[in-house]
Amino acid sequence: MAAAAPDEVEYGEVFTRRWVVETILDLVGYTANKDLTQMKLVEPSVGSGAFFVPVLERLLESAKVHGTELSALAGCLYGLDLQQEHVATCRKKSADMLQAAGARPAEARALSAGWLRHGDFLLDEVPTDVDFVIGNPPYIRTEDLDDETEAAYRKTWRTMRGRADIYVGFYERSLSMLASGGRVGFICADRWMRNAYGKHLRGLVTSRYAVESVWQMHDVDPFEAEVSAYPAITVLANSEQGSATFIVRADVQQGVAGGGPHAPAEVGQGVADPPGEHIVIAGQVARGDPVHRVRRVKMGGFAGVVRVQGRLRGLRGG
Ligand SMILES: C[S@@+](CC[C@H](N)C(=O)[O-])C[C@H]1O[C@@H](n2cnc3c(N)ncnc32)[C@H](O)[C@@H]1O
Repeated sequence: MAAAAPDEVEYGEVFTRRWVVETILDLVGYTANKDLTQMKLVEPSVGSGAFFVPVLERLLESAKVHGTELSALAGCLYGLDLQQEHVATCRKKSADMLQAAGARPAEARALSAGWLRHGDFLLDEVPTDVDFVIGNPPYIRTEDLDDETEAAYRKTWRTMRGRADIYVGFYERSLSMLASGGRVGFICADRWMRNAYGKHLRGLVTSRYAVESVWQMHDVDPFEAEVSAYPAITVLANSEQGSATFIVRADVQQGVAGGGPHAPAEVGQGVADPPGEHIVIAGQVARGDPVHRVRRVKMGGFAGVVRVQGRLRGLRGG
């Protein structure tokens, strides 16, 4: 693992690769064929816009398809970051994209300023009745926070107990914002599914929400920097628990993961861990299939995918 840069420690900063972002947007259903102009999406920690830019691309595409004026998009997006410079960067990118889509400069700046705010996702006001919360929350151990901030987080978010990382609070708050049927899609450490500090979050998820997908990515590098964070793409929903897809291993080559020239990709080996509990995909994926298409193309009716009913092992409340 490479040595962490100061912002990685202080702000939990690790940026997400584009293909991971597209995968998450597909999984939660934020797709341009829908009328996204009628939906609300929140990105709690925008960084330099790894999620926000593709999200805005999809929103603009959807607005075009559905004949919606850009001026009607004010309530569609909300992005936040603790670092003012990230907010400024994203506002600039957003305003440029809006102008390219036909907005006047003042209108583009006003929409972007309304969408993107400087603030603390765990303490500041955020929208409610949200359809999507997506992103890559910061990884900051509570012992790396100042005492006052740590106390404020713990007081507000009851799942942040023990040695919890702040991403636990990000899950709790994100779930609390969802409209009925709304979804949270994160690329994030999956340690909360097993560790003692995740107990209260597991309890919350299994008692009130549904797990839709967990795609472990321990063997893949979803981030721009090298980190050993045990990441997983996780999609949770404000709905009844139905079937869920749990991919515990995707042996995806870096060439594919990096979105570069595609190496032969093999997804899964029918890994059962332990047998019958989890599981996966078997079979070859065609050379050149981007990873997110693998899911779309294969997961639905593909015989190698076992859908797990009900609660997932590792996500019981205790
Ligand atoms: C892991 S990075 C992810 C950035 C971006 N979403 C991406 O995927 O590339 C986390 C970001 O969280 C921000 N951050 C840290 N603590 C925060 C908080 N309490 N509220 C909002 N943003 C925060 C950091 O400044 C950093 O930009």
